[in-house]
Amino acid sequence: MIKSLIDNLNGSTTKNVPFWFMRQAGRYLPEYREIRETAGGFLNLVYNPDHASEVTMQPIRRFGMDGAILFSDILVIPHALGQALKFETGEGPKLEAIRDVDGLKILNLENIHETLNPIYENIKQTRGKLKSEGFGDTALIGFAGSPWTVATYMVEGGGSKTFTEVKKWAYGAPDEFQKLIDIVTDATISYLDHQVQAGVEALQLFDSWAGVLDPDQFEKWVIAPTTKIVAALREKYPHMPIIGFPRDAGHLSLNYIQKTGIQAVGLDFTQSPFWARKNLQSMMPVQGNLDPVYLLNGGSAMCDAATKILETYSARPFVFNLGHGVIKETPPENVAELSQLIKDFVR
Ligand code: CP3
Repeated sequence: MIKSLIDNLNGSTTKNVPFWFMRQAGRYLPEYREIRETAGGFLNLVYNPDHASEVTMQPIRRFGMDGAILFSDILVIPHALGQALKFETGEGPKLEAIRDVDGLKILNLENIHETLNPIYENIKQTRGKLKSEGFGDTALIGFAGSPWTVATYMVEGGGSKTFTEVKKWAYGAPDEFQKLIDIVTDATISYLDHQVQAGVEALQLFDSWAGVLDPDQFEKWVIAPTTKIVAALREKYPHMPIIGFPRDAGHLSLNYIQKTGIQAVGLDFTQSPFWARKNLQSMMPVQGNLDPVYLLNGGSAMCDAATKILETYSARPFVFNLGHGVIKETPPENVAELSQLIKDFVR
């Protein structure tokens, strides 16, 4: 079996450029919407291994990506720790906000796997389906949110535009906020360890809100916990590829790749190709970074932008991806066209 995704993450170049897309499973696919309805809501889907493994397979069957991403969400960690979580259609996640050290009392690290077990079962089923359906070259990617990003949702009680509450706490009472970060970090290490034991072949840490912190705070809340997670996993699994995705971190990404111990870095679409090639790709494999709006629009602008990215990064170890997740209004035909373009590109 040739898993070109794993080879590139391990620092080799393969003839083809491996690809997968963040949020490749989801609402832009009619078969996803159908199964989500059957399951009765998003969390029921995530915690049902039969359904969740089907959803993981859906984009692979249509488009043949080199990576299948586990179907789950970064917010299962707060949920498993005991924080109430709801996904309401069209509104995004809602959590019972934790605003101070007293609020941490509801969190319990002891029993998280009781909630998370169906996700490990999903991993086993998905590996089985990839094999039996002839996608033996497709690698299964596990993931978690990075502690900072997960904490933003836990403290804000959902999405935010300004991050005032979480930053107020992190900047104003760092020793207390550290306790929250430590709980999430420990839960994440254990969660990813279980994902590896169940059969994922690479890991990605999503730090979607890495870009909202000043450089000192970035060091404390993005770099430090990520370093701790990577070190703990490396000790047990020295060869497991770990991709870090510090979204919107700009030139701080350089600090991030030098300190955290990750093996490959995901680029968001704001990264400049020449700067990232020179400063980041010279140090490690990169993954990225087409703006998902090109995919939404499709057509020649999408093809030109994707080709430019392939030409920029393909001489060295590289995984094609988007710079953020697939937008839900994206026509599946555009995803098919982009997938074909990447498959036809010769290095
Ligand atoms: O295909 C995949 O990428 C695998 C599954 C996956 C989901 N979420 C499924 C999902 C992954 C890797 C994630 C990561 C995730 N979740 C992130 C990090 C990446 C990013 O987008 O920045 C974040 C911040 C979340 C938290 C989250 N989950 C939000 C803010 C939302 C609501 C916004 C939205 O798009 O609806 C979700 C819900 C969610 N997670 C959906 C899916 C398919 C949509 C749920 C539905 O069916 O209604």
